[in-house]
Parts: sequence; C-alpha cells; structure tokens
Amino acid sequence: MSSALTFHIRPGGALRGRLRVPGDKSISHRAIMLGAIADGTTEIDGFLEGADAMGTLAAMRALGVSIDVPAPGRVIVHGVGIDGLRAPAAPIDLGNSGTSMRLLAGLLSGQPFDTTLTGDPSLSRRPMRRVTDPLGRMGARIDTSDAGTPPLTVHGGCTLRGIDYDSPVASAQVKSALLLAGLYAEGRTCVREPAESRDHTERMLTAFGCPVERDGLKACVHGGSRLQACAIDVPTDISSAAFFLVGASIAPGSDLVLEHVGWNPTRTGVVEILRLMGADIEVLAEREAGGEPVADLRVRAADLRGIEIPENLVPRAIDEFPALFVAAACAQGRTALTGAAELRVKESDRIAVMAAGLQALGVRARPREDGIVIDGGAMTGGRVDSHGDHRIAMSFAMAALRASAAVTIGDCRNVETSFPGFAGAAGAAGLGIEEAGGDGG
Ligand code: S3P
Repeated sequence: MSSALTFHIRPGGALRGRLRVPGDKSISHRAIMLGAIADGTTEIDGFLEGADAMGTLAAMRALGVSIDVPAPGRVIVHGVGIDGLRAPAAPIDLGNSGTSMRLLAGLLSGQPFDTTLTGDPSLSRRPMRRVTDPLGRMGARIDTSDAGTPPLTVHGGCTLRGIDYDSPVASAQVKSALLLAGLYAEGRTCVREPAESRDHTERMLTAFGCPVERDGLKACVHGGSRLQACAIDVPTDISSAAFFLVGASIAPGSDLVLEHVGWNPTRTGVVEILRLMGADIEVLAEREAGGEPVADLRVRAADLRGIEIPENLVPRAIDEFPALFVAAACAQGRTALTGAAELRVKESDRIAVMAAGLQALGVRARPREDGIVIDGGAMTGGRVDSHGDHRIAMSFAMAALRASAAVTIGDCRNVETSFPGFAGAAGAAGLGIEEAGGDGG
C-alpha cells in the first residue's frame, strides 16, 4: 500500500446516533466473481469499494470482464459466461486480500490459460496449501513458494474431477475455492467442514441459478452448470459493525443504531459472544435482502463481564476477535479464548499482535497457542502498532473510548481494505479520532 497512516485518538467519549457501515466484504468479492462468469448483466448495489474487493474487481477486468462503476456502491458486471474468461496480460496483484487469492485459485483452476497471482508482504506470508492441496486432488496444477505461500501460478488446461473433501479447517475460503473449481469439474464436488463457516458462496450460487446441495456440514455442486445474472443487494458488513458494537458497549452513555447489517446466522457469533458478556444489543427489523438476512442493531453501553468463549462460536466470529479482545479488556474479570489457532494466520498473527497492543495499554493479556487470556481492568493511553492489519487498527481505535490518555495507532493504511472512511464514520459517531500521514512521530 501507499504512504503510512497513523490514528491519534483522544481518550473517552461515547458513540451515539445512527450509522451505516460499508458493504460486506465477503459478499462483494463473490458478487464480482460470480457476476463475471454468469450469462447476462449482474447489477450490484451496496458494493464495498474497499481495496480488497476493488482488487477482485480489477482482477476480473484483467481476465477480460467489462465492469462499470456508475455511482458509489453500484457496480455493473457484464458477464462473459462460464467459459468466457481470457488470459491476463500480466501477473495479477491482489494486495492484502486472502479471500481474492484463495477464491480465484479455485476459479482459475478450471481455465484454459495460466495465471500468476501475487500479493503484498502480509498476503505473501499466508498459507495457501489449504486450497492448493485439495485443488490438486481435483487435477489442478498450482505452483506456490517452497513454504506453500504466494505467489501462485495456476496452470490452465487441466481436466478437473469432482472430489469428496473432508476439510481439516472450518474455512469459507477453502470451501468456496473448491466449489468454484467444482463448476468446471466432471461430476460432483463436495466439501465437508468440521464446523460451519460463512455460507455466502452457497447462497449466491443458488441466487445465480446454480443449485448447491447442502446436508449439514456438507455442500456440493455439479460441474457443467451455467450461472444466470441477477441483482445483488449487498448488506453492510457485520465485521465492520463489530467495532461499533464493542465501542458502544464499552463507552458509558453510548446508544447507537447500526443500519442494514448483514445478519446471516453464520456471521452472528460476535453478537452472541458480546451478549454472553452482558452487552445490551437489540435486533430490530429483521428482514431479507437478496438472499441474505439483514437487521438493524441497537447497542447501548453495558457493564461487561469476562467469560470463557464457547469454542463452537469461533468460526462464526473469526474476524471479530480483535474487537472482542478490546471488549474483554474492558470487562470485569477474566476472558479466555481457546480453539482459535486460525487467528495466527490472518492478515497478521492476531493473537500475538493483539496481546502486544493490549499490554502496551497496561492490560494483562497472555497469548496461548490457540487463543488468549485477558484480565479486564483499567487501560492507559499509549502507542500501539497494528502491523498493517485493518481489524487490529480499528479495534484499538475503539479501546481509546476507555483509555485514561490518548492512544496512537501506527500502520493504519490497510483500514481502507475493508472500511474506507472509517475515521470519518467513527468521528461522526463520537470517537475523537484524527488521521495523520507518516508514522505520526
Ligand atoms: C472469508 C472467510 C474467512 C474470513 C475472511 C473472509 C471469506 O476466512 O476470515 O476475512 O470471504 O470467505 P476463512 O474462511 O479462511 O476462515
């Protein structure tokens, strides 16, 4: 990414009013990819114009798909059909986006041409064998580094066969990569997960007229189906709403309504965990938009208490733990998380980086191999390094609401990967946040 960015946040304050956070990142990626290989024109509203989803958009353009962005959040994808993608002229740089890389590895496995996928230093450290190994069993040929990391070269011209795959991780990226490759495979491709991960791919394939067989933790597609373009209304991202759910819960005097939040049951773990901690979150006006459940969420300040986080909620809150750790630091008593080793291979090692940041603010936080133990208590001000991880930066911004002095957060540029305009939105809700170029001294 371009130049460095620092957040300076005054301590204290409360979050009030109404707020609509940006569109769901997972759904935005999938809308572009499925729209690209569908027959006809897909119209998307509420699209997340963050760097990650824009990376997927640029990738599909590089693969020969014409895509217009006539107004903010509105995207028109002129589908080329299941066999219409064309060889890109150069390697495709996917920046910070693991979702783009893993899903495209699946989609590109079934093409007649080679594609090289690269990423930034964070993405270049992330494990790819979790997709390249099962795709290889389907007949795909994908090169990685010796360590199993990017860049990936996905070779074209391979004949894919459907497989029945028992995934060792509950990962929507793994499941989606295989289902997308399955569209190009002979026979049936099935993925069984150890626990249910987000199901946006299954829902959206169904909306595009491609039936997905679902049986408990197993999802299957048949090769040879064609996709029909459709309209997609992207709800706002519960993962972005999560910072405000935590901020309003921990800041006395807060009363905030988050509008049109994606309320897919595979994503609501953050609200369940906060409620177990004593949060006051009301679910208003539950409805459906484009095959996805949506609701408004009203959150008011509450006295939180530490809990043992149930392991079965981990996959359904996987991106929200940085924010939840801040809630734990403000709760009375001890919060313990186990069964969450996946956090170590996200945009940063979120267990190590959150533990270091919390310690810098005077919180007793002890990392464990697969989780963390946090003792709630007073928070000082101080300087925290987000390690270029968008969710770490936004989580510590909320911590300032309860800190005794100013909080400075370094390396915040990647906030734009998932939440462009975060500082403006948070400031309007009541956070004393200022952005500064450079490392902020
Ligand atoms: C995503 C799945 C999750 C999540 C990521 C987005 C997706 O990763 O952490 O931010 O859109 O499929 P895993 O499925 O690998 O846990």
